[in-house]
Amino acid sequence: MQVNCFPRLDIDADEIRARLIPHCRLKPGDIWHDPHAGHVIGCGDGTDPEFVRRAFKNRKATLAVLDPPYNLVMFEKKTVSEYIAWCRNWIDCCSDVLSDDCSLYVWLGADQKDHFQPLPQFMTMMAATGFESRAFITLRNQRGYGTQKNWMAVRQELLYYTRGNPNFTVQYTDIPKILRGYYKEVGGRRTENLQRSRSNTIRAGNVWVDIQQVFYRRRENVNGCYAQKPLAAIERIVLASSVEGDLVTDFFAHSGATLLACERTGRQCLTFDIDPVFTEITIRRLEQYRSTGRTGWQTGHPFEQELGTIEVTVPEEPVSARPGNDLTNVASR
Ligand SMILES: C[S@@+](CC[C@H](N)C(=O)[O-])C[C@H]1O[C@@H](n2cnc3c(N)ncnc32)[C@H](O)[C@@H]1O
Repeated sequence: MQVNCFPRLDIDADEIRARLIPHCRLKPGDIWHDPHAGHVIGCGDGTDPEFVRRAFKNRKATLAVLDPPYNLVMFEKKTVSEYIAWCRNWIDCCSDVLSDDCSLYVWLGADQKDHFQPLPQFMTMMAATGFESRAFITLRNQRGYGTQKNWMAVRQELLYYTRGNPNFTVQYTDIPKILRGYYKEVGGRRTENLQRSRSNTIRAGNVWVDIQQVFYRRRENVNGCYAQKPLAAIERIVLASSVEGDLVTDFFAHSGATLLACERTGRQCLTFDIDPVFTEITIRRLEQYRSTGRTGWQTGHPFEQELGTIEVTVPEEPVSARPGNDLTNVASR
């Protein structure tokens, strides 16, 4: 199908990247300060303590939402132990800039063809960091991939950790509560489940089935981004684990989903990406949202003004369902 779209920026993307780089405001090492809401976007390496400290100055975040590339550090596949050592570096950098009472969420895939690496190794590594494990959340994709010889893969994994005693606000889905006949004595009176409810809809638990994954027909779609997380998922995290005015961080900005979630919910965001193209996309997504209320480009793209219409063939299925994407957060394994 031909649309005004954009090629993915990770596979065979040298030509398009060469055209985009001159339009990127940040170069490696630069830090952009948003003049309106106080967000900060840095073009740099989340494993570099000096860069992270320079971006944070003396500020502390109460929440980190981290979505690293899956075992593909700067486009070079590592062994599992090298990958985990790399993860430990950004976890340590992040730990230094989080407050004493804080929450940390990490999206991480599991390779079902290779003993689910690096998920178990990552969990073990986290046990030695001083963070407490709190929840292992599953986000269910609407479309998956699979063969007739295995269960269809429709899951994205999200780990929730805390340190100290951070804020947590229960979140509700839009799914109506229908469970009846579950009785309990309250104040000597037999009450039915629905009577006791604080909400007519069900509470978000550790399996999220109500969030649409991003694919190109979605308004929030940012073409070129191959690993975009749904805004609704990030907003759920931000609303649960921070309060208005808090500083939230994301070391792997990509499409700027965490930044946009913060903008929409009254938090400040301090985010990085090592790649100037993704920091530019993050800035543009914020600017476009402010000027039009649009959360993405749907079938257009962030560089339309400079590059005009680009005709490419896009597959029908969502990014996380494309061949080779048996992990959700990095497409090009
Ligand atoms: C999986 S994507 C993040 C997706 C993001 N959550 C979203 O919804 O758009 C990972 C991003 O990390 C960036 N990255 C890779 N290594 C990095 C590093 N050492 N420091 C900062 N960013 C890095 C990549 O350029 C990529 O844009």
